[in-house]
Amino acid sequence: MVNAEARSGSRPQLSRRLLLGSALALTACKGRAQAPAMPSGPLPPLRQAAPFSVGAAINVGALDDPAYTGLLLAEFDQVTADWQMKMEVILNPDGGFDFTQPDAVAGFAARHGLRLHGHNLIWYTYRPPAFERLAGDRAAFAAAYRNYILAVAGRYRGQAVGWDVVNEPVAEDGIGYRDCLWRQVLGMEYVARALHDAREAAPDAVLFVNDYNLESNPNKLAGFMRLAEQLLSAGAPLGGLGTQAHLTVDTQPGQVRACIRTLATLGLPIHVSELDVSTRGRRLDFSDPASRLDKQARLVGETAEAFAALPERQRYALTTWGVRDQDSWLRRAPNAGDGSDRPLLFDDAGAPKPAAWAFVAAVGRGS
Ligand code: G3I
Repeated sequence: MVNAEARSGSRPQLSRRLLLGSALALTACKGRAQAPAMPSGPLPPLRQAAPFSVGAAINVGALDDPAYTGLLLAEFDQVTADWQMKMEVILNPDGGFDFTQPDAVAGFAARHGLRLHGHNLIWYTYRPPAFERLAGDRAAFAAAYRNYILAVAGRYRGQAVGWDVVNEPVAEDGIGYRDCLWRQVLGMEYVARALHDAREAAPDAVLFVNDYNLESNPNKLAGFMRLAEQLLSAGAPLGGLGTQAHLTVDTQPGQVRACIRTLATLGLPIHVSELDVSTRGRRLDFSDPASRLDKQARLVGETAEAFAALPERQRYALTTWGVRDQDSWLRRAPNAGDGSDRPLLFDDAGAPKPAAWAFVAAVGRGS
């Protein structure tokens, strides 16, 4: 489902000069070690520069910070709850539902006219007591599985434009599919079941299967594509493919573009669903922070350009997994390390980084 505003072309047109200026400034820093040059003047808002929806993962705890919400509303037109719409928040041990936190996210999105992307209904990491105790009774388990999906996806029917119905089904090494409670009780059909139940609950939502490391692990991408093809062949209402794109400065040039092109071969809408680029690269020795930010900018530019080059009907959204560096999951334990990671497009203070300029320049080139 492409953003109506984008489809209608009603987005304010930014001057080509400004977009080209951004591109020239960034290419001018090619090969230089010092901090990437950034154009003078204000960054065009990402949501205006892009001919598609630009999303961010949000955390309810930050919504009372006006600096955070000001930047969020200026730059993004879609939100994903990074935690508050998950089973671990909604499903009580007794099998009851608590919608306080997901309603807070949905209410914020509605008040500000933001698209809402639901994340996520079923995930291999979930092993809630309310389901564990039904594991011995397949029929009861399947009924509770269906009831959960109908209740959650149904609650945000007409507001959530899409759902990550099943998150991360492919095995970590890309060989086969993850073992998890859902598969143990229902078999691999747990994926198709979830899609059918979500379709019944939310007829207009784009229903995604979503995974990570698809850019860097060819086996995992191949397994993900096989699953998608099998689901489509079986008539499951798979409506889109999500690639999380949790990258690092070690990610090799071209990997992201190749992955997006492969995902697009099935003709479904694509969601770059959780983009960030960790600057704590492992393999390459980046001696100075500036070269890390330059590499990050190049990767964000590659991602945005490849996404913008998709046919409009396949551009669901490009979502970054957080707003400012300080909001990133990579700055929170247990991933925080020395707290130096700078994975997003805006720095701790909310100022645009070279990656933000690279995004703006790329969407002008790609679309
Ligand atoms: O805010 C509560 C706090 O009140 C409570 O005391 C504490 C007790 O543990 O939990 C806090 O919530 C934490 C929440 O993030 C909000 O920060 C949860 O513990 C913590 O598990 C949760 O982590 C989230 C993680 O998914 C697990 O759900 C991360 O924020 C979120 O960024 C991360 O996102 C995942 C995607 O869903 C799937 N793709 C990978 C991505 C990164 O791991």
